[in-house]
Amino acid sequence: MSDRLLDFTQTPMGKQIAGLLGVPTPPKLRRAKSGYAAQPLEGRSVVLGSATDGELSPALASALHEMGATILVSTELPGLAPVKKAAAAAKVPLKTEAQGEGAYAYVFDASGMEGTAGLRQLYDFLQPRLSRLAPNGRVLILSRAAENTASVAAYTASTALRGFIKSLGKEIGKKGATANLIEVGAGAEPTIAGALRFLLTEHSAFVDAQFLALSKPAKGAELDRFVSPLAGKVAIVTGAARGIGAAIAETLAREGASVVGIDRPAEEGALGLTMSRIGGRGLALDVTAADAGERLAKEIGGLDIVIHNAGVTRDKMLRNMPAHWWDQVLEINLGAILRINDSLFTNGLNPGARIVCISSIGGISGNAGQTNYGATKAGIIGYVEKLAGQMAKSGGAINAIAPGYIETQMTAAMPAIPREVGRRLASLNQGGLPIDIAEAVTFMASPLAAGVNGRTLRVCGQNYMGA
Ligand SMILES: NC(=O)c1ccc[n+]([C@@H]2O[C@H](COP(=O)([O-])OP(=O)(O)OC[C@H]3O[C@@H](n4cnc5c(N)ncnc54)[C@H](O)[C@@H]3O)[C@@H](O)[C@H]2O)c1
Repeated sequence: MSDRLLDFTQTPMGKQIAGLLGVPTPPKLRRAKSGYAAQPLEGRSVVLGSATDGELSPALASALHEMGATILVSTELPGLAPVKKAAAAAKVPLKTEAQGEGAYAYVFDASGMEGTAGLRQLYDFLQPRLSRLAPNGRVLILSRAAENTASVAAYTASTALRGFIKSLGKEIGKKGATANLIEVGAGAEPTIAGALRFLLTEHSAFVDAQFLALSKPAKGAELDRFVSPLAGKVAIVTGAARGIGAAIAETLAREGASVVGIDRPAEEGALGLTMSRIGGRGLALDVTAADAGERLAKEIGGLDIVIHNAGVTRDKMLRNMPAHWWDQVLEINLGAILRINDSLFTNGLNPGARIVCISSIGGISGNAGQTNYGATKAGIIGYVEKLAGQMAKSGGAINAIAPGYIETQMTAAMPAIPREVGRRLASLNQGGLPIDIAEAVTFMASPLAAGVNGRTLRVCGQNYMGA
């Protein structure tokens, strides 16, 4: 269903009327139009700053350079020395920021930060520049994961950054810009480049005010296949006939994967149409069938990527909820994932396989009338945390994506007022599109996310629900 306010305020007359009425205008988000490029930041400037003892500048300077960015620095910055040293070592050219010059992105290495003095350095970096951030621009902060910090003051500063980006996201969202945080664990430095390719590009248009924790990559993990990152991979996507699942299937195929889309036998026709459009194959299968996992292993086998997207809502207050609605939601949204994975773990996954499960911000915030749905979507978050270690042993990973309000048939069926609230109570002031979830899933399924395991990433435009 289209967002009439967004469509209207994108016209010159609509813009003018919205301005006169003081109605906030949802920004037009710039989304990726094609697959991952070798130099996605070519022709764009990124200002790179650092806290005095920043340790991540070498990884940052090299990654930004390889992405084609023009890296700007300023003599006023406290952490200029580590940035210059890193750039010289990597033979990366730096440009001096001109007075009043704007930029597409501001990237700050907060890894050496301690206490309030460290946080003041972040203020000094961003405060004078923020008004010059480009529309649809990016603020990205990198810190040491709190558990890897050496002192109480560093731990405190690291956790303070989460509140900082959440507030900043609410300030810059109106121009379609986002603020995110990467928390770098011990040994995770080689995975920074992949995460930057997602969070600093249009592939992450609807990811706002989130923190992405990176851990040491699995042994032998592919770290730098950034173009056609899924070439040669076999992927399955459940619930692929329409909505988010169809977009996931299409985006995985765009990055080179051979995709098998799965949906209920009743949706076989729609599934066939979607799959022929993207050059994939369809398999009519109810994910709750007792033998679903065995059939996937037998009929496809050798899976590199498994996306558990099929999901339903059957909303009613718990006091009125019939048992069969409870069971249906629990079985489709959660039980099927557990059973299929258990079966694929014994037979069906290739080494290094990636599993991505679709959760929901409804599993984080909870909604009246969604005890069944909320339980399944929160269960997924715990499930991926618990299975991360097991997946890492074979070089793989399991993660979840928690969509916010996304424009699909599922949300079109909502009553008008909650639908409008779902869209507007977000820093980006609009609902997301299926492609936004598909981009995040594709990131998680690719070598770009080599440092991500056991995590849940919200893709919600900083929806205020449960934020
Ligand atoms: N749309 C949103 O705003 C939103 C928000 C948060 C989470 N999600 C989650 O995203 C996922 C996709 O949602 P959507 O909005 O695209 O929904 P949708 O209803 O448009 O599509 C869901 C697909 O899953 C399929 N499906 C349902 N039961 C199945 C079964 N037993 N076996 C196989 N396939 C089955 C359906 O036929 C359909 O094609 C769901 O898990 C949903 O909970 C959606």
